Amino acid sequence: MNKFLFKVFVIAALMISGAGYSNAQNINLIPYPSQVDVLKGNCVLYNSPLFTNHKGLSGLLQFFNEEMSPLQKNSHIPKQLIDLKILPSLAVYGSYELTTFENQVAIAAPDSAGLFNGLVTLLQLYKTAKPLNDKLVLPHLVIHDRPRFGWRGFMLDESRHFFGKQTVKELLDWMAFYKLNRFHWHLSDSQGWRIEIKKYPLLTSIGGIGNFTDPLASATYYTQEDIREIVAYAKERFITIIPEIDMPGHATAANRAYPAFSGGDAPGYPAFTLDPANEETYAYLTNILKEIRALFPSGIIHLGGDEVAFGIAAWEKNPGVARLMAADQMTDLNQVEHYFLRRMADSVLKFSNYLMCWDEAVPADLPVNRTYISWWRQNHPESLNEAISKGYKVVLCPRLPLYLDFVQDSTHRSGRKWEKTKFNSYLDLYHFPENSIAADLSGKTNILGLQGNLWTETVISKKRLQYLLFPRMASLAEAGWTAVPAKNDSLFNTRLKAHLLLYDEKNIYYYNPFHPDQHPEAVDVNTEDQD
Ligand code: ACM
Repeated sequence: MNKFLFKVFVIAALMISGAGYSNAQNINLIPYPSQVDVLKGNCVLYNSPLFTNHKGLSGLLQFFNEEMSPLQKNSHIPKQLIDLKILPSLAVYGSYELTTFENQVAIAAPDSAGLFNGLVTLLQLYKTAKPLNDKLVLPHLVIHDRPRFGWRGFMLDESRHFFGKQTVKELLDWMAFYKLNRFHWHLSDSQGWRIEIKKYPLLTSIGGIGNFTDPLASATYYTQEDIREIVAYAKERFITIIPEIDMPGHATAANRAYPAFSGGDAPGYPAFTLDPANEETYAYLTNILKEIRALFPSGIIHLGGDEVAFGIAAWEKNPGVARLMAADQMTDLNQVEHYFLRRMADSVLKFSNYLMCWDEAVPADLPVNRTYISWWRQNHPESLNEAISKGYKVVLCPRLPLYLDFVQDSTHRSGRKWEKTKFNSYLDLYHFPENSIAADLSGKTNILGLQGNLWTETVISKKRLQYLLFPRMASLAEAGWTAVPAKNDSLFNTRLKAHLLLYDEKNIYYYNPFHPDQHPEAVDVNTEDQD
């Protein structure tokens, strides 16, 4: 059906049924689409794997079919045809139109990301549908949908605790299920180096030893083969991975492996920084990042750049730093920190399309058109404003409300709070960015989108990982995707209750905000760390 006829058909159907309305309560989709029109009647489909006659598009169905296969009990029923169409006239990347007919579903989108998003919507409809023998009964509806933000991210810190390939794949599945499309992978920090670098094997054999709980735990890390496997897995789910190698601070694990590049000790922060005055430090890091670049097709490398101040006092004792400052007429150590980042930007941008840094790097004057900023310090709104006014593209990930290692209820004891009382409830995440100083900026093109960050000092087990993530991943998803007119607390709660049942099916240990006693807080360690 062409677009005009399609519209006529929809309008006619709406007139006949009189039932078209938005935000339909029994449509348990998260994130909620821009517009849902429920028509009279049902759509009855085989509960069997989907197939398409477009050979070039069949790869898109893999995630759907894998997710549904445990629920498909009868392997003899025919496969279900799905009508997938690329319609370039739908201009917004990732947008789609989905229509359920009596015995078929059609999805049209301007690009394969949009078709995939439509399929994920269908997956959620399937998972929450009424079963009828070997068939599923879906509502008869038309959905028009487009993302609010292009960057809908989730960050996992695997330095403080390492979770491994299986858990990361499960998280990528959930990200895809919630239309989250950027996985920021924090692969190095003081407690452990987690990615194989062929040229510097001690980074993993020595730097991979230990974690936040046990500094002597045997080395854990991803081989380059593992990384390739995970990158391919993410790609099938339309998720781009952004690796982070944190520098010049948070580098203790690397410095344990290669002390020649250490910036020295500061009180409480042994070997926290890399040495900015040693020319060989830059060659060493560039070699590492070249290997990283070859593994991650995103062409974005996150260089960290946060909290260098913790260990910067070490540089005062370094005669090389004094010489560097004199030669470049630098008057304070912040300038040395920025010099370090500019040097790294110069070399990384020869082989990487973009670099990314935490917002401490905003004053460093990195190339505006090729640097993305992660704004995390909600107590430094001026840093966000400076980034925007300098023209940087920004990902919003302020601690309040987007840090997932903060507790999610006042009664929870394990995990972080801000100023001893503030935490991040699932509704705080849901209301972002309207509940933040970024509210006025969200329509600006310089805001790439938002991201939830899970630091893992307190995340000693998978149970606790799940407890912190669910259901807040659902809130994050709707904050990232759904524009304000369709955001609504009470309808979100209704839909979320249906998703809690899906968590039960997968044995997820989640926080239930409606029945907090269902799963008592998963407690491993206590930290009151507020940084
Ligand atoms: C950070 O939380 N240190 C970026």
